[in-house]
Amino acid sequence: MLSYQHAYHAGNLADFHKHALLAWMLDYLTQKPKALSYLETHAGRGLYDLSGPEAAKTGEARAGIQRALQQDWLPPDHPLLQALDQIQHMHGPDAYPGSPLIARYFLRPEDNAHLAELHPTEHEALAQVGGFAHLHRQDGFAMAQAVCPPTPRRGLLLIDPSYEVKADYDAIPRQIAQIARKWNVGVIALWYPLLTDARHVPMLEALRQAHPQALLSEVGFPPARPGHGMIGSGMFVLNPPYGLEEESRRIEKLFARL
Ligand SMILES: C[S@@+](CC[C@H](N)C(=O)[O-])C[C@H]1O[C@@H](n2cnc3c(N)ncnc32)[C@H](O)[C@@H]1O
Repeated sequence: MLSYQHAYHAGNLADFHKHALLAWMLDYLTQKPKALSYLETHAGRGLYDLSGPEAAKTGEARAGIQRALQQDWLPPDHPLLQALDQIQHMHGPDAYPGSPLIARYFLRPEDNAHLAELHPTEHEALAQVGGFAHLHRQDGFAMAQAVCPPTPRRGLLLIDPSYEVKADYDAIPRQIAQIARKWNVGVIALWYPLLTDARHVPMLEALRQAHPQALLSEVGFPPARPGHGMIGSGMFVLNPPYGLEEESRRIEKLFARL
C-alpha cells in the first residue's frame, strides 16, 4: 500500500533543487534540433496547488519555492522560472508544476515521453495533465527496463522515488547499472534525500564506485520540522549535459546561505 503523497512536499527545498537542475537540463537538451526521449519512473500527479490544505499543513513550499521567488534566488531567465510562469499563467498563481509539467514545457512535438506512476489516485490526476506522454500505471523501474533503450535514443531519465519501500536503497544501484548498460548515451538522473540516519549512504557509495564519472550535486537545508530526518537533497547524474556542473555549483551556493 503506497501512502506517500507529494502534495504535502511539492515546492519544498528538495523540489527546488531537483526541479532547477531538471529544467536546466531539459532546456539545454532541447536547444539542439534533434528529437529526444524523456522518461520518468516516479512521476507524481504533475500539478500541485500550493494554496491547498496539504501545502498549508507542512509549510514546506513556503520555505521552498515561495521563499525562493520572493528573494529572487534564480535569475529571471532561468529555465525553472520560465516553466513556472507558464503553469501559473495557465492554472493560477498558486499552481506548482511537478516534474512531468516541467518537462511538458520544454518538450517539442517530435519528442517522446514515458511517465510511470503507480498510485491509483496520483495516476488519475496525472492523466488529467499528462496527455503529451505515454502514461504507465506500473512500477517505474519495470517501465524503464522495458522502454530502455528508448526511441529516440537521445534523452533523459528522471528517477525520483518516494523511498517508501526501504528496499529501494538496495535496488537502485542494480537498476541503474542495468539501464545504463542498455542505454549508454542516456542522461540518467536520480534524486535522493540526505538523511540524518545516513540510510542513503551505502546506496550512494555503490553508485559512486560503479559510475565514478557521474556528477553529484548535494545541498543541505534545515529540517522541515524539528527532528525531521531529511536535511538535504542530492542529484546523481550519469552522462551529465555539458555545463550542468557549473549550474549545480550555482544552485549549491544558494543553499549554502540558508
Ligand atoms: C517523490 S514523488 C514524485 C514527484 C515528481 N517526480 C515531481 O518531482 O514532481 C514519488 C511518486 O512515486 C510514486 N510511486 C511510489 N512507488 C512507485 C513505483 N514503484 N513505481 C512508480 N511510481 C511509484 C508515488 O505515488 C509518488 O507519486
